[in-house]
Amino acid sequence: MGCGLVPMRVGFVQFKPVFGRKERNIKRILTLLEFGVREGADLLVLPELCTTGYRFKSKEEVRSLSENVPDGMTTETLIRYAEENGLYLVAGVCERSGERYFNSAVLVGPEGFIAKYRKAHLFNEEKLWFTRGDTPFQAYRIAKAKVGMMICFDWFFPEVIRILALEGAQIVCHPSNLVLPYCQSALLGAAVQNRVFIITANRVGSERGLRFTGMSQIIDPNMNVLAKGGRDREEVKVVEINPKLSDSKKVTERNDLWADRRVDLYKPLLKTLR
Ligand code: ACM
Repeated sequence: MGCGLVPMRVGFVQFKPVFGRKERNIKRILTLLEFGVREGADLLVLPELCTTGYRFKSKEEVRSLSENVPDGMTTETLIRYAEENGLYLVAGVCERSGERYFNSAVLVGPEGFIAKYRKAHLFNEEKLWFTRGDTPFQAYRIAKAKVGMMICFDWFFPEVIRILALEGAQIVCHPSNLVLPYCQSALLGAAVQNRVFIITANRVGSERGLRFTGMSQIIDPNMNVLAKGGRDREEVKVVEINPKLSDSKKVTERNDLWADRRVDLYKPLLKTLR
């Protein structure tokens, strides 16, 4: 597979939503996106549940803050912004679908709405409010790369990034509201094991007794951290990458990550344990 140069500018928006104040949060997001646009970003990733906040206390709160996707205020605003500014955005949205609620992410771009992903692996109290995701782990072609989505705790399940990489994703977009201390280090391994870029956009601050860890990051397929956020600050960072670096799965002269897989020995992966 070719490894020509397709330079692309990608980044994360690390910020602190205020719980329940959607219009305020959208306004703040639009201000922060301007920094990314000024940096020439082609793709920006925002945190999980970025317009509602995270720590719901009742189903009624989820119901009143959730939106249809793509016909809801958050997705429509992001679509308009992406169209006007000619870039791609991935963002976490609280999705309503009839009587069900999903912790979702949307991918939008200059051509409008592209896809939504519904979080498959719900974390802790999320199980009280949300339905487990039913969308596939899929890669989508955007102008300069193929991208996949996963949301926060999905990272704990290595199958997710593996499938996204097998589907051809060069960049894994990872909207997050991380509270445990492991992810930022653990994803270094995932990036090199799958030879993909991973953009984790985390939130900062505390909300209803939960503290989020910040330290959003962009990792390349060789495990280099190309950009990293602080623990508390709102910030936007954009770096130039060559997504095609992900296409080569070769790690030595005689080792190729895909050719060397021993699928014949992997059947136990489908075993279910409780
Ligand atoms: C998380 O999945 N928001 C920890």
